[in-house]
Amino acid sequence: MICMGVTASAPAKVIMFGEHFVVYGEPAIVLAIDKRAYARVEQRKDGKLFFRSLNLSLSGYFENGNFKVEEGDAREARLRFEPLKCVVDKVLEKSGERVGLDIEVNSAIPVAAGLGSSAATAASVAAAVSALLGVKAAKEDVFRIAFEAEKITHGTPSGVDPAIATFGGALMFQMDTGFRPIEVKCEIPLVVGDTGVNRSTRVQVMKVRGVMDRHPHIFRFMREIAREIVLEALEALKRGDLEALGELMNLNHALLYGVGVSDESLEWLINAARKAGATGAKLTGAGGGGCMIALAESERIGKVLEAVQTAGGRAFIAKKTDEGVKIEQG
Ligand code: MEV
Repeated sequence: MICMGVTASAPAKVIMFGEHFVVYGEPAIVLAIDKRAYARVEQRKDGKLFFRSLNLSLSGYFENGNFKVEEGDAREARLRFEPLKCVVDKVLEKSGERVGLDIEVNSAIPVAAGLGSSAATAASVAAAVSALLGVKAAKEDVFRIAFEAEKITHGTPSGVDPAIATFGGALMFQMDTGFRPIEVKCEIPLVVGDTGVNRSTRVQVMKVRGVMDRHPHIFRFMREIAREIVLEALEALKRGDLEALGELMNLNHALLYGVGVSDESLEWLINAARKAGATGAKLTGAGGGGCMIALAESERIGKVLEAVQTAGGRAFIAKKTDEGVKIEQG
């Protein structure tokens, strides 16, 4: 049975530790945060799959395998909507139906900034279309479908972004063992600073691959250090030890800097946060621009926020959320 319209949403994320090295099988620690992407879907009669992104001002439709743009740049629209079409096709396949759909997405998550906006959008589309068509989709199914879409967007993703967008909370993620929720007993006061420099995850991941290819022995040691940082961070999270967590963030950033995924805009904001009293700061996500995060004691967090803003970052205080993908209204 098909109902009128369904809205679903999924959260943004920050990777606290382990990005990039997670692509090579090392663990990462990731938190879902209180900014969400939304997808609203409705059935349409003409058999088209019509996509609109309110935050990117793009729209267009797929008909008989062809894409036609209606609003915005055709290449950009196709790039954004193709992964979402893959999501819709997978759900349609499961449902056995062949229907036209209006899919409207809107995201409060900065795009191409390392906060997982593409994965959150894909997860919310998967959940909304499944609910609309009455297809039973457990969170594992939504994760798997969003992961397929991420492969189109980013090439060789680890799966960490769709996992946290689907399950929410705080996760330790590793490619071969999957993910497990981690208990975070303390508050984690985090400032997120967006450099405003857009970048592609695919390009940053390829940059790291180049370093690995040219210096395989050194890279092996860097992987081991990245793993140790995550394991020590897990212990520090259990103890609620913000000093240790901050120091580990600084160490993690040094590794990411070493493999070439930081840039001037990130260094600028990271230094500003450290000078203002952050216990630690690092880039988060793919780097090359995008976002940084800074950890600070609660009484210092306001100062750190101000310092990142004064340094030119679009900054906000992030709160962990336990809500993964969910139906908002059906
Ligand atoms: C992107 O948010 C995180 C990376 O580690 C890539 C991935 O894990 O797929 C850079």
